[in-house]
Amino acid sequence: MAKRREAIPISERQRGRAGQGRLILLSRIFWTVLLFWTAVLAGLLLWALAKEERHLLDYARLEARANFNKDMALRTWAAKHGGVYVPATPETPPNPYLSHLPDRDVLTTSGQRLTLMNPAYMLRQVMSDFSGLYGIRGRITSLKPLNPINAPDEWEQRVLRQFEQGETEVSELTEMDGQPYLRYMRAFHTKENCLKCHSHQGYKEGEVRGGIGVSVPLRPYMEIKRRIEAVLLLSYSLLWLLGGAGLLSVTRFVRRQILRQREAEASLLEQAAELERLNHILAHQALYDGLTSVRNRRAFDQRLAEEWQRWHRSGTVFSLLMTDMDFFKLYNDTCGHLQGDACLRTVAQTLERSAARACDFTARYGGEEFVLILPGIGLDQALVVAEKARQAVEQLGLPHPASHCAKVVTLSVGVAAVNQLAEDAACGAGLLALADQALYAAKQGGRNCVRAARP
Ligand code: HEC
Repeated sequence: MAKRREAIPISERQRGRAGQGRLILLSRIFWTVLLFWTAVLAGLLLWALAKEERHLLDYARLEARANFNKDMALRTWAAKHGGVYVPATPETPPNPYLSHLPDRDVLTTSGQRLTLMNPAYMLRQVMSDFSGLYGIRGRITSLKPLNPINAPDEWEQRVLRQFEQGETEVSELTEMDGQPYLRYMRAFHTKENCLKCHSHQGYKEGEVRGGIGVSVPLRPYMEIKRRIEAVLLLSYSLLWLLGGAGLLSVTRFVRRQILRQREAEASLLEQAAELERLNHILAHQALYDGLTSVRNRRAFDQRLAEEWQRWHRSGTVFSLLMTDMDFFKLYNDTCGHLQGDACLRTVAQTLERSAARACDFTARYGGEEFVLILPGIGLDQALVVAEKARQAVEQLGLPHPASHCAKVVTLSVGVAAVNQLAEDAACGAGLLALADQALYAAKQGGRNCVRAARP
C-alpha cells in the first residue's frame, strides 16, 4: 500500500510556471508604457521649449523694430529740417564734416553762436548721453562713411552688401562683446533732403546710403526664458511622475491579481492531485485485500473471466490452485486473532513468491482460502507449483500447536486445469468447482497435501 501513496506532489516550479509568463508580460507592458509616456512628455517639453524660444525672439524683434522706428522718427524729423541749429559748446563742437556748408555756424541777433547738427550727429549724441535710458544700441553706418566712427563692423559690412543686392531688412542673433544680442538693420536710402549734405559724395536720390540698425540685448530675455524653462521642466516632471505613479499603482494592482489567481490555480492543482491520489487509493482498495496485500476476490473474478476468454479465443491453457490453511479456526482460537492475521499475511506473501512469474496471480478468496491462477500452465506443471507452495508454507515453520496434522501451519491444495473441463462448460465457475473438489479431496486425504481434480 505504502508504495502506491506517491501521488504526484505539485512542485513549486509547476505552480509558478502558469503565473510567471503573465508576470513577465506585465513587466514588459509596464516598461513599454513608461517608455512611451517618457517619450511623449519629452517630445512635448522639447516642442514647448522651442516654441518658447521662438516667441521670445519674436518679442525681441518687436522691441528692436519699435526702437528703430523711434530713432527713425527722430532722424527723419531732423533731416526734414535739413539739420537743426544748437548752441556751440565744448560738448557739441561744430561738425568738421559739415565745413563745406556756408551756413554751418551762425550768430543770432543777440550774438549767440549756433552750429548746425546733422541727423546722424544728433542721434549719436542722444545715444551716448542717454544710453542708460535706452539699453539698446543704435547704429548708423555706411560702406562709404563720412565719419570713420560710422565704419561698419564685419556683420554690418555683410548686411550692407545684402542691401545693395535689394534686401531691405535683416535681423539676426549674434554676440557682441561676449553678450547675446539681436541685431536689426534696415536699408537707408538717399532722399532729396539728404542731398544738401551728401551730394558731394556722389549719391543720387534712391541709392542705398547706408543702414540704420539697433541691437537689442537678449540677456533679459534669457532670464525670462530660463524662468519659463524651469517652470516647464518642473511641471512636465511632475506630470511625468504623476503618470508614472499611476502606471505603477495599476501595475501593482494587476500584479497582485495575477499572484492571487496563481495562488488559486495552485490550490486547485493541489486539490486535483489530492483527488487523483485518493482515486489511486480507492482503485487499489477495490482490487487488493486490505489485510494481506494480495489481490481480493473481485480482482480474482475479473482475472478468471479474462483467462477464461483467452482460453476460448486462442486455446491458451491455464490452471487454478485453491488452497486452504489447515485447522485455521483452531489456530485463531489458540493464538488469537492478531497472530492469525499476521499468519495470513505471511502465508499470502509466501504463496505470491511461490508463483513467481509476472503473469501468475495470487488472490485471497475469502477467510483463510487463497487462489492462484497460473496462465499457460497445464495440470502437471501446476501440480509442481502447488507442491512447491505447500512445501514453502510448511517450511516457514510457524508453530500451530492446535493442528491435528502437523506441528506447524500447513496448507491443503486443490489443483484444476482448464483443459480438464468439457468443451461447452459455461464459465470459470466450472473450473472453480473442479478446484474446490480437488481441495476437498486433499482435506479428505489427511491435509497438508496437494490433490489434482478428477473430472
Ligand atoms: C545737415 C546735413 C546732413 C543731412 C541733411 C543729412 N546728413 Fe547724413 N550725415 C551728415 C554728416 C556730416 C555725416 C557724417 C558725420 C557724422 O556722423 O556726424 C552724416 C552721416 C550719415 C550716414 C553715416 C555714414 C557716414 O557717412 O558717416 C548716413 C548713412 C547718412 N548720413 C545718411 C543720410 C541720409 C539718408 C540723409 C537723408 C534722409 C542724411 N544723411 C541727411 C550730414 C547730413
